[in-house]
Amino acid sequence: MEQKKTQRNAIDLPGLLVIFGGTGDLTNRKLIPAIYNLIRDGLLPEHFKVLAVGRKEKTTQEYLIGIKESIMKYSRNEIKEEIWNKIQSIVSYYKMDFTNLTQYETLLSHVEKLEQKSKTKRNRIFYLAVAPEYFETIIQGLQESRLTDRSSDYNRVVIEKPFGKDLSTARSLNQKIVHAFEEKNIYRIDHYLGKEMIQNILVLRFCNFIFESIWNNKYIDNIQITLSETLGVESRGAYYEKSGAMRDMVQNHILQILSLIAMEPPVNLKMDSIRNEKQKVLEAMEEISDEFLEKNVVFGQYGKGMINGESVAGYQQEKNVDPESQTETFVALKMHINNFRWSGTPFYIRTGKRLQKSCGEIVIQFKSMPEILYYNNTFEQTPNLLVIKFQPGVGVKFCFNTKDFQVHNGIMTSQMDTSAVTTEQGNTPEAYERLLYDIIRGDGTLFSRWDEVEAAWNVADRLIQYREQKKSPFPNYEAGSMGPVRADILLKEDGRKWWDFSGGLK
Ligand SMILES: NC(=O)c1ccc[n+]([C@@H]2O[C@H](COP(=O)([O-])OP(=O)(O)OC[C@H]3O[C@@H](n4cnc5c(N)ncnc54)[C@H](OP(=O)(O)O)[C@@H]3O)[C@@H](O)[C@H]2O)c1
Repeated sequence: MEQKKTQRNAIDLPGLLVIFGGTGDLTNRKLIPAIYNLIRDGLLPEHFKVLAVGRKEKTTQEYLIGIKESIMKYSRNEIKEEIWNKIQSIVSYYKMDFTNLTQYETLLSHVEKLEQKSKTKRNRIFYLAVAPEYFETIIQGLQESRLTDRSSDYNRVVIEKPFGKDLSTARSLNQKIVHAFEEKNIYRIDHYLGKEMIQNILVLRFCNFIFESIWNNKYIDNIQITLSETLGVESRGAYYEKSGAMRDMVQNHILQILSLIAMEPPVNLKMDSIRNEKQKVLEAMEEISDEFLEKNVVFGQYGKGMINGESVAGYQQEKNVDPESQTETFVALKMHINNFRWSGTPFYIRTGKRLQKSCGEIVIQFKSMPEILYYNNTFEQTPNLLVIKFQPGVGVKFCFNTKDFQVHNGIMTSQMDTSAVTTEQGNTPEAYERLLYDIIRGDGTLFSRWDEVEAAWNVADRLIQYREQKKSPFPNYEAGSMGPVRADILLKEDGRKWWDFSGGLK
């Protein structure tokens, strides 16, 4: 197989990365291993420092012991002495209470001293790896202490999800951020966009004549996006109670994936060209009335059941969850995009917790051939399907019909599958490596612009308001199933079914 490779290169942009939440789960599991692997791949600038900010009392030496363990546990590459030595020379720890606004002045002097010693210029990246309720306070602290002073080359801010809990809180948060940072310096994270297979959507569409020329309502019958998890809420019950599947998965990851699948070709691959096209998709989503939602949305919440042979509790019995909770842990939805390309082609999405299997995949179902030549009661043609699988494992699969040589007049479905090739490519960078690399070099293509976030909240708010209007009969699906029966009926009523490739073609 011929492979053309475009290498990522080291960037010559000195800088200081300040991580608020430096002792948290995200930093330990994702950010620190990502920094380790960027160093290993020679992708960090020569003059680069990391200042981890946490509330815990500890020295840098103690902090380093902790992150060494995290690298050993979570990095995709084994820890090597020379790279670890480099980490030790660039990472330091700083203790502060970030809710105390008087402490930012001291942080500023600490940062300035670090910058004087380390040739990072005055380029600063503030990564807010903290609970969302602290975003505004930290921004205020940074601004009032003039840590965001614009006299340096750049000052960037990285905001973890969720960005607001509805349109109005997202707007209010955004106003505060744009007061302190220019839009081009605001990086709203959606880590799904950092996944290689999600970026592959653009390559598949815009590097293959065969696909892009039939990527429309004339040839595509429907598109399905599934993001399912076997996990429940684990220790995050308090967070999930306020979030639910709509805010946790649909408003961000699913709508972002959908807009990449549905967008028009951008004029080039520059950040704003792609974001402009994605934004148009969200704007073209049909007016969502209550009557529409009555027929086209299914909310669910898991009850007790069995996962991988073990019995598990229902959502309402989870820690820090209201025993009468009305929070949805499952959403299935049919949507239309009202533009020339997609008018009439439904997009079905579903996401949920404690489902039968963990899987992330997009299925493009092409229209069926007329049932004239090859059709009878015994043999059924499967429509052509293009499957983009992004977790667990990655790959693209194309299904088509061929002659079944073992059966007279038989037809069978054959598959071309790139999973094996993708596995051969081996240890691909994690989403957070790609995202951190892009933040450092100032490329916001894989991050959400404010108008995209706003448009996504417009859609999500309508659904959330609709759900909150009436009491739902929760729980309404068993842990270990594929969600409420009504989610299957949603497609059945349209003469369709959910495709499931997690255990092969079914
Ligand atoms: N964890 C994930 O896998 C994941 C995935 C996607 C998105 N996210 C998002 O990432 C963000 C962080 O999540 P997380 O799971 O890492 O949270 P976490 O484990 O609870 O960590 C919170 C961090 O905030 C620090 N902190 C809290 N209050 C503080 C204060 N007053 N002053 C100084 N530091 C304070 C904690 O410091 P101490 O430990 O020193 O108290 C800790 O470092 C959230 O917005 C979450 O939604 C997380």
